[in-house]
This record gives sequence, structure tokens and C-alpha cells, in this order.
Amino acid sequence: MQKLLIKGKKELSGVISISGSKNATLPILAGSLLAKKAKLSNVPLVKDIYTMMDLLKFIGLKIKINKKQKIIELKNLRKKINTSAPYKLVKTMRAGVLVLGPLLTKYKKAKVSLPGGCAIGSRPVDLHLLALKKLGAKIKIKDGYIIAEAKKGLKGAKIKFPSISVGATENALLAAYGAEGKTILSNCAIEPEIIDLILFLKKLGCKIIVSGRKITVYGKSLNKKNISHRIIFDRIEAGTYLIAGALIGKKITIKKIKSKTLMSEIKILKKMGIKILQSKDSISISKSKNLKKYNINTKPYPGFPTDLQAQLMVLMTQASGVSKIRENIFENRFMHIPELKRMGAKIEIKNKTAYIYGPTKLTGAEVMATDLRASVSLVLAGLIAENRTIINRIYHLDRGYESIEDKLKKCKAEIKRK
Ligand code: EPZ
Repeated sequence: MQKLLIKGKKELSGVISISGSKNATLPILAGSLLAKKAKLSNVPLVKDIYTMMDLLKFIGLKIKINKKQKIIELKNLRKKINTSAPYKLVKTMRAGVLVLGPLLTKYKKAKVSLPGGCAIGSRPVDLHLLALKKLGAKIKIKDGYIIAEAKKGLKGAKIKFPSISVGATENALLAAYGAEGKTILSNCAIEPEIIDLILFLKKLGCKIIVSGRKITVYGKSLNKKNISHRIIFDRIEAGTYLIAGALIGKKITIKKIKSKTLMSEIKILKKMGIKILQSKDSISISKSKNLKKYNINTKPYPGFPTDLQAQLMVLMTQASGVSKIRENIFENRFMHIPELKRMGAKIEIKNKTAYIYGPTKLTGAEVMATDLRASVSLVLAGLIAENRTIINRIYHLDRGYESIEDKLKKCKAEIKRK
């Protein structure tokens, strides 16, 4: 098992290029089942992307990857494909459930393993299944598998999500693409990654209109299109490095981004007293002496993202006073707290709210990563802690952060993988 070793308190300065978004790439890879050929550029070469590609190869796509240029080419030329997603490929990467919509809408049947829970919560898929049933799919659950079919094809429908779900919105969009007639989805998630998926589906000839949380999809007869698409930047990776700069940056500039989709993070960092210089496609940030406490609620986009909650918590340990974070999206997303407390952080949890007392000096320790974003919060803590921090189980980190130690080393961090 690999570890990361970090020697703390090294001021960071330099430029960090942000990779493509993992959470845009995953639904778009699933959507590639609907194209004849799809060429994706600016793809992040992280573990989850390889897992999704293994699943698509198992289903029957031909896939070529150019690591240097970060380009993936997928071809769906076979008559007969395997309309199933086995447990072994879905259990490690829940986004595998996103092949359900495309398989159903194009091949009228699918057998996909239930993704099961993960460290941060039970992660049900009831909203995904609700949408597919409304579109006419017959669905049953048997031996841990979702068995879906639509002998006569899917039919457009009106679907109102009882609660906002990124994955369910994506599966519904992918299914509605090939459904006959109009589908109106309301109370949708509208994360930038979903807007990127919509752009991809429009290139496949589908007419889609977004107004607020309502998305209207005019079903498209399946065609044999060749398309290319450049994946948007990863706003969570960008937000993570902004917080690294706020913690210990002399001056960090992040590039290849769109500041507009980072507004909620930028607003909070400024309110906490951080100096930020932003242009349309880059942001520079430096640490500031007296950080002010702040209170946040995690919310669906455009609210503050749950995927940046653990990272912001590290910054709050350095702010004067008691900051509060209320985690509203997942039921168990505070697992980084016991590890941060072992490094000296003073944090209490009451109900779904974390109370962070600062400023506190952090000291290096041997810690353990538990999920993707919790692990990166331990990296951030290691960057500002006295002495050395050792982070175990960094396979969690490799699922979503492309060459994190290289990007930080380039900014003078003392970090190495062992
Ligand atoms: C996506 O997960 C992201 N993953 C998550 O990022 C992100 O944290 C999450 O959206 C919220 O923004 C990908 O895009 C691959 P949800 P998803 O459906 O789609 C409940 C990361 O670190 N729910 O919006 O699974 C669910 O339990 C990952 O990159 C149902 O009850 O999230 C949760 O409490 C972690 N029934 C809430 O909704 C359902 O059918 C939001 O989940 C679906 C979800």
C-alpha cells in the first residue's frame, strides 16, 4: 500500500494546471455508448476513469487512450454488445450505474449491479430508478442487480425529482436522449459537470433546454454520429488547490479554469480574509495572516459543494474563532475529523454540524485516508503541520486527483510517494 510523506510548513509558490473534471468525464464516458465514435480531450487520467473504461470495454466498446495528450477515443461499432455491468466493476466505482440510462435507451435492456454504499454514505439509487420507470422501463432488483428492460423503447415523460441528485439527473438525461418524444425533468441537479454532459448530448443531435432546475429533452432517434468533446476543468481540484494557496501560499496561480463556476468558493475565501486575484481563466491566491471564521452549509450547485467541505475545514482550523460546517448532502462525510484531531485540530461534531475552533497549530502524524476528499484534506493539513505527516491508503486520493504530488512539488512542497 502506497503512502504519501509530507514535510510541513514549506511555503508554496508557482503555477498549477487544473486537469479535466472526473465528475464530468464519468457520465460522458457512459454517454459514449450512444455515439458511433467519441473523441474526448482534456480527460483526467485518474483511477475512476480507468475503471469506467474497463466497464465500457467489458460492454463492448473499443477504446484507445493517448496518455500524453489526455485523449480517449471510444468506438461503438459492434452489433451485439454486452448490456451488463458486473458487480466487480461497479463496486469500486459507483458511477458505473450511469451506464444504465444509455444501455436502456439504446439497447432496450440492461443488467447493472447495484452500486452499494461507500464510506460517505448508503448512496441509494432509488431516484435513478424512479426516473427510468417513469420513462417506461420495467425494473426489478434480483441478487444485487438492477434488471431493466423497455421492450417497446422508452417514452418521453414528465419527471419531478423529490430531491436533487447529480447521478439521477445524469441517468435520466442519458435515458431521455433516446426516448420517443419530449421529457421534462424538474428539480434537477445543475452542476457544471451536468451542463457539460448536456453539451455532449447536444453534439449527438439531441435538443435540450435548461431553465433553472427544469431540463427539457427532445428525444432523438439513435444515430451513428462521430463527435469530439473537450471535458471541462475540475472545479473541485481547482477549489482544493485554492485552499492550499490560502493555507500556505506565497503566491499560487491556478490555470486552465473558468472562475465563474468557482464563485461560491471564491466568495467564502474572500470573506475569510484571503487575497485573491482572478481573471477569466486563472486565479492567484496567497495566504493571509489573520483568517476570519466562517459558517457554511453544503448545498447542491450553485451552493457550496460537499466535495470541498473537508478541504475548507482545514482552512477553518487556522481561522480565529469558531467556524461551523453543516454537511447536508451525505450522512457520513466527517470521517476526516478524527484524523485531523490527531494532528491537533480542535473540532466537535453535534448532529450534522462540525464546530472548528481556531487558530490551532497542527503537528504531523501518521494518518489514514478514508475517502477521496477526506484524503486530500489530510494532504492540506500535512502541508501546514509541524514536522512530517504520513498518509496511508492513498489509493483513495488516486481515484480523483491527477499527479497531486507532482503538482505540489512544482510549487516547492516537500512531498513524496513511498
Ligand atoms: C455525485 O455523486 C458526485 N460523484 C459526488 O462526488 C458528489 O459528492 C455528489 O454528486 C454531490 O455533489 C460523481 O459525480 C461521480 P447525488 P452522486 O446523487 O451522484 C442521495 C467525489 O468526491 N440520493 O447528488 O452519487 C444521496 O445518498 C464524489 O467526486 C438518494 O437518496 O450524488 C446523497 O445523500 C463523492 N437517492 C444525495 O442524494 C438516489 O437515487 C446527493 O447524492 C441518489 C442520491
